[in-house]
Amino acid sequence: MLALIAGAVDDRSARGIAAAVSRLVTAGQLPAGTRLPTVRDVARELGVSPTTVSEAWRSLGRAGAIRTRGRSGTFVAAPVLPRQGWRYSQLGGQVTAVTRDLSTGVPDHELLPDLTDALKRIGDGRLTSSYLDAPVLPPLEAVLRERWPYPPERLTVVDGALDAIDRVIAEVVRFGDHVVVENPAFPPLLDLLQTVGATVVGVPMDASGMRPGPLRDVLAGCPAAAVFLQPRAHNPTGVSMPASRAAELAAVLESFPDVLVVEDDHAGDIASAPPVSLGSLLPARTVHVASFSKSHGPDLRLAAVGGPARVIGPVADRRMLGPGWSSRLLQGVLLDLLTDPGAVAQVAAAREAYATRRAALLGALRERGVTATAADGINLWMAVDDQQIAMVALAAHGIAVSPGAPFCVTPLDGDHVRVTAGLVAGDVGALADALAAAALLDSRGSGPRARSHPRGWR
Ligand SMILES: Cc1ncc(COP(=O)(O)O)c(C=O)c1O
Repeated sequence: MLALIAGAVDDRSARGIAAAVSRLVTAGQLPAGTRLPTVRDVARELGVSPTTVSEAWRSLGRAGAIRTRGRSGTFVAAPVLPRQGWRYSQLGGQVTAVTRDLSTGVPDHELLPDLTDALKRIGDGRLTSSYLDAPVLPPLEAVLRERWPYPPERLTVVDGALDAIDRVIAEVVRFGDHVVVENPAFPPLLDLLQTVGATVVGVPMDASGMRPGPLRDVLAGCPAAAVFLQPRAHNPTGVSMPASRAAELAAVLESFPDVLVVEDDHAGDIASAPPVSLGSLLPARTVHVASFSKSHGPDLRLAAVGGPARVIGPVADRRMLGPGWSSRLLQGVLLDLLTDPGAVAQVAAAREAYATRRAALLGALRERGVTATAADGINLWMAVDDQQIAMVALAAHGIAVSPGAPFCVTPLDGDHVRVTAGLVAGDVGALADALAAAALLDSRGSGPRARSHPRGWR
């Protein structure tokens, strides 16, 4: 490989070396995952100083072409997967004549607070005096800090939870790092981690969230850069973590001081469970993301991300060179909605409505012998005999649900589908009949039957 690199270099400056390696990567001659020779060896081969090669490696690293993985070396980074290859792309849009799309995982528009009044109340919208203004409106930051489950050293606002997670991953996860997630997990998180070349390890869950024993085993087996968790309304299972489980997980993490915790509180105020965070026990290494998409509207595109300055500082600084800040108009709307008593009451009513809808569908499915969980949030995770058969059977009724497989880091005990129960208002009888028939149809086509041994997702 030294000869390959040397042969491609026609300009021995740092810039010329970086350009040559970049050309080899683009041409596929240095595929993703290739370990590059050491700086010293390349310098010797090219007859330049190691500082020049280090500088070339640094600029390739900044451009995302290579990644340094501590002492293990420097590797060619994975290219961004084309959209068709993502787990995320498999979640929806597979039924052609959809009369009922329960695959989406979005909140019910009817339950979102009305923005008309908030827009009127925020004034003339002239909120930016300089591109270097603080990225978060100071009164919004004060409200967010008050709501935060622990005092965050730094806090900023970005364009949604996934934007926050993407930026945190870019900051803390390097090619080849081990990263721990719940199994099942949110598919775009897995796609993002794959994109940066992380090795993802899933830890099983129970009705209180990630299980502490298996977490300890995984961390003892391989050092990990980070653990990603959904503290409430876990998508897809709906599990919310009680404070006791947060304490158990924090106790495990005490023995692994280099592991960062990243929490995705995507459901926010529509979660029925109280706010919970490992940050109250591990504040120096917990990044907490609070999204307002489910509670206040996905089109606000706003989430707050807070935690240690060593992570949030670089995230906010790097963003100044791109979008700079999230729309202050929308930040103004969010501030209004978080403080206006009418809007607060609308969100509380939505939380109640989702709880009622979850309970109704879950109850109806259980009566029909189906195993499902939907403890919180807007999703219901239903065990099915066969994912494909269930999806096809539901499609015949014009019902779309999400397949369970993209959520699974490693296969679970049986197939599942995710149903957005939060969109199901009113009488659930006919829908529950269709879901139960699809869940309990096995591949021999023997028709609906009651399951004798309920199966969980653990
Ligand atoms: C677990 C999880 N994280 C993140 C998101 C995306 O949130 P946002 O709209 O804030 O990017 C979702 C949306 O469904 C989600 O379920």
